[in-house]
Amino acid sequence: MIRTAMLQSLFDPSSLASSNLLGFALPAADSAADANYWFPAQASSFAADMDALWYFIYWVSVFFFIGIVAFMVLFVTRYRRTATRTQPERSASHNTALELTWSILPAFLLVAFFYWGWTSFLVIATPPRDAMEVQVGAYKWGWNFTYPSGHTDSELHVPTDREVKLIMSSADVLHSFWVPEFRTKFDVVPGRYTYLWFKPTRVGEYQLKCTEYCGTGHSAMRAKVVVHEAGGFEKWLEQAEGALLTMEPKALGELSYKKLGCAQCHSLDGTKLVGPSFKETASLWGNARGLADGSEVTVDENYLRESILEPMAKVVAGYQPQMPVIPGIREKQIAGLIEYIKSLSGPNQ
Ligand code: CUA
Repeated sequence: MIRTAMLQSLFDPSSLASSNLLGFALPAADSAADANYWFPAQASSFAADMDALWYFIYWVSVFFFIGIVAFMVLFVTRYRRTATRTQPERSASHNTALELTWSILPAFLLVAFFYWGWTSFLVIATPPRDAMEVQVGAYKWGWNFTYPSGHTDSELHVPTDREVKLIMSSADVLHSFWVPEFRTKFDVVPGRYTYLWFKPTRVGEYQLKCTEYCGTGHSAMRAKVVVHEAGGFEKWLEQAEGALLTMEPKALGELSYKKLGCAQCHSLDGTKLVGPSFKETASLWGNARGLADGSEVTVDENYLRESILEPMAKVVAGYQPQMPVIPGIREKQIAGLIEYIKSLSGPNQ
């Protein structure tokens, strides 16, 4: 089933329409004049520099490739064995001028590559002090983002023209944060924090991809990145937080199911994914459920709450202890999720 979902997302015609040949998503709001066959749109402050360095190395390589192949063809033709020339010509064993030239010129080029790469790397590796900080949690197979206000979401929302610093950590295995349009990526590692920063320069919607092979759901481990115009980020945050306070519990639970990444591992229709289907959990409401250690637990509100906050406490028989703790989950969301799961046992489900 996971595979089917992944294939669907791969072949979803709406996602194809907004991608170029390499599969990069283009911003929906803007079909980006600077996107081309090689690169998606430039949407961060260092994208232009990154692309320029790439093109510099690319054209130097093209120049030498053509030059070397041309001379090779020329020499192979001119000095080939013929009816009149049957012995190889004596070749010079040494030519100081030639050897100095082919050592010194490329050395200058390599130093230029290094200098450009190093100075650009320093910029990327040094987050500005007054950047807005967002905590990033990665897990098999999803992302969550905790904003300075404490709000946690499965989408990354940022204001345009403002430096953003990500403080990233993984709940399980190695993942990697990559937004092609921002031209920056960094590993997300369990047991430690890694950092990444960028300054978005183009309003639009992008896609975050995990770019470290992390298991079955790796190719589906994406998240929406939204760069808001001035004032839009604050409005979005207020709305998202307001929803937490005012939504009816079951509706909030349904929203949280999608937003917090539960859907990656828990189906609603009885299909067995990484974790038990919520439909099965609901059908056992008030009854005993067998656990991996041979004991049993009664399916009720307390069991669900414990399983959300301490996923390893009660592992259902037949499943691996896989579920991460969802960082930043609110008490209201937990209550909502419980109501939502409960509702799935109804006659019309
Ligand atoms: Cu996470 Cu690949």
